[in-house]
Amino acid sequence: MSPAAPKGAEHVGQAGAGTVPRHVAIIMDGNGRWAEKRGLPRVAGHRAGAEAVRRAMQAAVDHGVEVLTLYAFSSENWRRSDEEIADLTGLMRFYLDRELDRLMKEGVRLRLIGDHSAFGQDLVERLEAAVARTANNNRLTLVVALNYGSRSEIAEAARRLAVKAAAGELDPGQLDETSLAAELQTHGLPELDLLIRTSGEVRLSNFLLWQAAYAELLFLDMLWPDFDETAFADAMERFASRQRRFGGR
Ligand code: FPP
Repeated sequence: MSPAAPKGAEHVGQAGAGTVPRHVAIIMDGNGRWAEKRGLPRVAGHRAGAEAVRRAMQAAVDHGVEVLTLYAFSSENWRRSDEEIADLTGLMRFYLDRELDRLMKEGVRLRLIGDHSAFGQDLVERLEAAVARTANNNRLTLVVALNYGSRSEIAEAARRLAVKAAAGELDPGQLDETSLAAELQTHGLPELDLLIRTSGEVRLSNFLLWQAAYAELLFLDMLWPDFDETAFADAMERFASRQRRFGGR
């Protein structure tokens, strides 16, 4: 383990050659451009993107990944048109209705990060019911980031620690990385090993800034709706080969 790694966080980089990442996160970018290239409305790109979500989830299960975290809706996405927001939330509702049985069959536990309470009551209820129904599944944890922003997550963690310190429950002198990580919404999940972004953009866009500290970063030129089993397997291979180089030094 590297000296600065948070306590208790096993980083997979040290586990040896050919390792499967325990925790993979994806910034699913390029739905709009995929649709535009075909002369289709943006919603068609999001629909195709939802199919890619299904493939990525299945591939993660098949490869033995423990956690797959997907950036489905950022806190900045509220700036999009009302129509596009309605399309995206409608699609999530549809996806949940259609895919819940599959999540159960494949042993997938759903967990949410971000503030999903900002969405309509109907979607909130469906999301929470899906989280409750899948709570005992243990093959893959699918973390969906909804109305998520990393800086606000970190600020909120700091605020909670300050409240505890003010209440005398915590000695500020003892505050360290482990105490802050324990207040993040990703608490209890394995360290992020691999972060993928599609569409050729080379940015983190306020996603998992703290968690990505030791992650391998993979920026792919393909648009999200084109991401498939082969792309996932290729990402796994590239991760393993980077780890091998790391271990050989
Ligand atoms: C980025 O493409 C994608 C999104 C903002 C949303 C991701 C949503 C889905 C894949 C569909 C539903 C989600 C789930 C979990 C079922 P973009 O619109 O920013 O593409 P662009 O940059 O080419 O315009």
